[in-house]
Amino acid sequence: MKGETPEIGAPGKARLAGVMDKAQFHYREYGLGQRARPELLSTMKNDNKNGKTGLRKGLTSYGDEDFSLFLRKAFIKGAGYTDDVLSRPIVGIINSGSDYNPCHGNAPQLIEAIKRGVMLAGGLPMVFPTISIHESFAYPTSMFLRNLLAIDTEEMIRAQPMDSVVMIGGCDKNVPAQLMGAASAGIPAISLVSGAMLTGGHRGVRVGACTDCRRYWAMYRGEQIDAAEIEEVNNALVASVGFCSVMGTASTVACMAEGLGMMMPGGACPPAVTADRMRIAEESGTQAVKMIEQKLTPDKIMTGKAFENAMRVLLAIGGSTNGIVHLTAIAGRLGIAIDMQGWDAMSRETPVLVDLKPSGQGYMEDFHKAGGMLALMRELKPLLHLDALTVSGRTWGEELERAPAPFKQDVIRPLGNPIYKVGGVAVLKGNLAPGGALIKQSAASANLMEHEGRAVVFENNQDMANRIDDPNLDVKADDILVLKCIGPIGAPGMPEAGYLPIPKKLAKLGVKDMVRISDGRMSGTAFGTIVLHVMPESAIGGPLALVRSGDRIKLSVSARSISLLVSDAELKQRAAAWVKPELKDHLRGYRKLFFDSVTQADQGCDFSFLRDPEVKETVPKLRAQKVSG
Ligand code: FES
Repeated sequence: MKGETPEIGAPGKARLAGVMDKAQFHYREYGLGQRARPELLSTMKNDNKNGKTGLRKGLTSYGDEDFSLFLRKAFIKGAGYTDDVLSRPIVGIINSGSDYNPCHGNAPQLIEAIKRGVMLAGGLPMVFPTISIHESFAYPTSMFLRNLLAIDTEEMIRAQPMDSVVMIGGCDKNVPAQLMGAASAGIPAISLVSGAMLTGGHRGVRVGACTDCRRYWAMYRGEQIDAAEIEEVNNALVASVGFCSVMGTASTVACMAEGLGMMMPGGACPPAVTADRMRIAEESGTQAVKMIEQKLTPDKIMTGKAFENAMRVLLAIGGSTNGIVHLTAIAGRLGIAIDMQGWDAMSRETPVLVDLKPSGQGYMEDFHKAGGMLALMRELKPLLHLDALTVSGRTWGEELERAPAPFKQDVIRPLGNPIYKVGGVAVLKGNLAPGGALIKQSAASANLMEHEGRAVVFENNQDMANRIDDPNLDVKADDILVLKCIGPIGAPGMPEAGYLPIPKKLAKLGVKDMVRISDGRMSGTAFGTIVLHVMPESAIGGPLALVRSGDRIKLSVSARSISLLVSDAELKQRAAAWVKPELKDHLRGYRKLFFDSVTQADQGCDFSFLRDPEVKETVPKLRAQKVSG
């Protein structure tokens, strides 16, 4: 009868019982369902009463908490939300999509997938923006803005009511900045990357950003290809949205974030435009709800052991040297110091296993098809801390137990048959870099790893731009190019200018590599015998500031040394006469904050006041064990 609930017959009751059993099973096993798990909801509601979670979290200060909540609900109801929905656990979703950032061009699709995961797990997704940084659209350099994004991330997580957060990142600086912010904000957080772009093709050759950008540009400078062809290449390098398709900085930090445990296992490698990428996004949303109940905060995941795992990953993938600066900054937020000599010791026993450019041949889509990070972690198993937790709530050991079975492929090598016998990065020291310097040995020329040469010095970026292609520049193929003033303070923001171009007159003769030294960084997609991150930087009077054209410099990667062959007495005299370069626009705004607070690369170039003032742990521990053993 109309308006009355019809009587359910026996077959219907049986069917309904089956459905209910199934639903209970989902609640019990997966925490999934159209409605939130009952126990989670009741926890949330109780916590809400205590003012700890959900919409009641971080109430705006009006001096009357109930009024603050009343007002907040009144406004959000303007968008059509019901009380039931507003009583649910809230998962913030950071939308770092921007027209200026094609590396995050799939953010709208990712957001839809995350929302689906959150809602099916019974949570309320709330999307909010932060600033977004693209490598080629950030002046003076993206690194200058990384800490601003970290602050934005931390403060927006803290300022707005949310119980956990999924952070969409991708392009180089976004993921580290988000992890720095999440570490400091302290609520459960999952990193989700946009995924790598697809590769393109140029005249039958497979190409991808941005190792091939540099390779073709060097050919153009060397007049091996003409203006029309370089224009053609320009159309082919970036075949879709997503981050750079080689093992550059973005891919490195994505893999590192997964190794660190802050990403759903298997989440680093699926390319941006794949179904796998959307599934990872949905899973991230679902797990972000579960993490609330599990109280799985970043400090429980990003432990010393987790950082050691991430360091292993960076070395085994032949990752970007930038990853070291970023990992150091993230660790610093949690009171964990990373010992540079420990890095080097770890590098000597961690081979490069992944055959990707710039150290090897392939691209991120090849890595994904070969099994991605789960396959790599399986190969690295003997070197990992398998008891380290991931955001899935499981340890790495448990994740590898349930990972898909291995299959034959040639992108991820076994430990016994590496691409490069030792880790991708070596740490150098010497009178030119008393605080240390780095070289990406896996992407360097074997014949230049032990080299002594005459210095050809450029005082800063502008000086280099003015003279590098001068036909009268006094430079020979076995000289060493030195660039000053591109450190954290010098440029400012430690730009990726460490990949100095080969002077045109030598490029034309076919010279492809020279030893190059600076206090800056280089893109993870670059290659060459390039010494970076010289510390202390020249702009604050480090020994690099004292080098003059004609001095002799000796690089020995086997001895891990970088030496300026000038007497101590002469260096003392030069130091006394040294004039500090003038800083520009350093008296106001974010620039002032930057100049006043940025640390050197060995502290991750974070702002000093954002780091945990107490060092609770130093990693890797391996060195101490080796010494004592
Ligand atoms: Fe965004 Fe390379 S420019 S990842």
